[in-house]
Order: sequence, then C-alpha cells, then structure tokens
Amino acid sequence: MGKVLLFTDPGIDDAMAVMFALLRPDIELVGIVTGYGNVDLEQATENVTYLLKLAGREDVPVFAGAHFPLSGELVTFYPEFHGKGGLGPIEIPETTQDQLLNFTDLFDLIETHQNELTIIDVGRLTSLAMAYNLGGDEVMNKVNGIFLMGGAFLAPGNVTPLAEANFYGDPIAANLVMERAENLVIVPLNVTEHALVNDSMIAEVTKEGFNAFTSLLEPIYQFYADAYQQIVPEMEGAPFHDVLALLAYTNPDAFTFIKKPVSVSTAPETRGQSISDFRPVESAEFEQEVGKDHWIAMDFNYKKFAKEFIETM
Ligand code: BDR
Ligand code: CA
Repeated sequence: MGKVLLFTDPGIDDAMAVMFALLRPDIELVGIVTGYGNVDLEQATENVTYLLKLAGREDVPVFAGAHFPLSGELVTFYPEFHGKGGLGPIEIPETTQDQLLNFTDLFDLIETHQNELTIIDVGRLTSLAMAYNLGGDEVMNKVNGIFLMGGAFLAPGNVTPLAEANFYGDPIAANLVMERAENLVIVPLNVTEHALVNDSMIAEVTKEGFNAFTSLLEPIYQFYADAYQQIVPEMEGAPFHDVLALLAYTNPDAFTFIKKPVSVSTAPETRGQSISDFRPVESAEFEQEVGKDHWIAMDFNYKKFAKEFIETM
C-alpha cells in the first residue's frame, strides 16, 4: 500500500479523486493539502473536511495551502462546472476546521514518511511550488515522486486554445515545479479529457448503497455532466480529469508515457502553455535550456479506467 499526500481544490472531479483515494485499498492517504482553484481556499477546505467526515476519516491531516497564485493576482472560479460551493448541487453542513494544520507542518509529515511518500497534485500548482520554496529541495526530495494533473500536449487547452486550467491558473508555479521536481509524472488534458465517466457507470456504482459516498455520486456527476453537455453536446458523460491522475499512480501499466523536458509559458500571450519538444529529432539545445526530463502520459487504457472506477467507487 502506497502512502499518498494529495493536493486538491474540490471541485467535482477533485471530490471524486478524494473519494477514490479514500476507497482504494492500495492507497494510504496520509494528508491532504487544500488550495484555491475550482473554488476558494476556505471552500476547498470545507469540502475536504466534509468528505473526510463522511468517510469517518477525520484522522487524515488537512493542511491549508494557497489562497492566490504566486503572481498575487485575483482568481477566477468555475461555478458553471463545479457549482457555487464546488460540489454541484450539494450544500454541505457548516464545519469547524479545528483540525486544520499550518502549511509548514507539511514538512514534518514528509520527514516522518521520508522515501515512502508520493505526492499527487490535482489542483493549481501554487501550494506545491510554495512547498519547494519554503521547505527547499532537500526536504522535498524525500518524497518518492510526484504525479500531477495539468498541461496539454499536442492538443488544445480547456481555458485558452493553448492552456489547461491547472497550468493556466498559476503558470509561474507550474514552471517552478517543472524545474524543481524529481520523478515527476504529468497526466495532462490530452489524456484526462478522455477519462469519461458516463450515466451507465454511475448507475452501476449507485445501484446498491455501497459506501459512505454513494448518495453523493449521482447528483455531483449529473451536475458536472450537464455542464459539459452545454459546451460539447455530443459528449457521453464527463471527463473526471483528477481521478485519472490517481489511476496513473495506482495502475501505471494502463498508461503510455514519454520522457521529455517540459516548460510552462509565463508570457501573457501564451500563458500556461505546456511546452515540450515533440519533433522527430529532438534538439539538444531545447533539452539543455529547459532541463529535467519528466514522464508525460500520452495515452491510457480506457477499459481499465472504467473497470477500476466502477470497482473502486
Ligand atoms: C483541471 O482543472 C480543474 O478545474 C479540474 O479539477 C482539473 O484538475 C482540468 O483542467
Ligand atoms: Ca482539480
């Protein structure tokens, strides 16, 4: 069983990822870092606290991450996809976050689980970049590796023609992570947009009252699928981007990866674009300029995704 520290901004697909992580027998969730993104930091933290309470897992420590991107600019949320409170039509009871830990306590957690912890980040990359800046590489290199959902390679973005939301939300942080992270696996939009959960999968997982989350699944799925239906009427279901990043961790064999250096544009015209060298003959200069190689997911086995989703949820 692998120890996981999850960075997240729930958000519907994030909420599904949190539930997926809690339900997987092969994941030991040792902490959650919340951040702004799909909703603001407070709401993301409330939503995580609510999900943990439902699961009876208040023992999982929650750390408050970033309020804003590293640029300090104000952020845009996406209520049309995630609902005003981030969980579609679900209104959660007010919680008191008396268990909330300080961000820097994260470094003790990393030390405690050194060389056995994997970070999975499915939100804007601000909090992870802050962890590199505050904790330093020496501490951060005590994690085994990092998986993240973000970027779009050889494919359009979802926020602009060039950029995916997590990279676009804080391109400075995303680029910093590209420069600093060791053993980084990127699960970008070009694969996650195909991680479709559809009506029949939800019917399958909700046909019996299986677990603490079952009653949430149908309403949050429906809200999210309706939102996608508005923009892509022919889409069957909706892409659960963040769940796919977790699957890359639990089932890497279901993916095809290539290894390349990556940078993220911070220029206003191309903000958040993920750049790598896909020419048949790669240039040594690009590699030298950009630096470290990272694993980029380019394809995955959809049947495996659907099977694992149904069995887990
Ligand atoms: C990513 O952006 C967020 O809105 C989703 O939760 C996901 O992490 C997809 O581009
Ligand atoms: Ca997310």
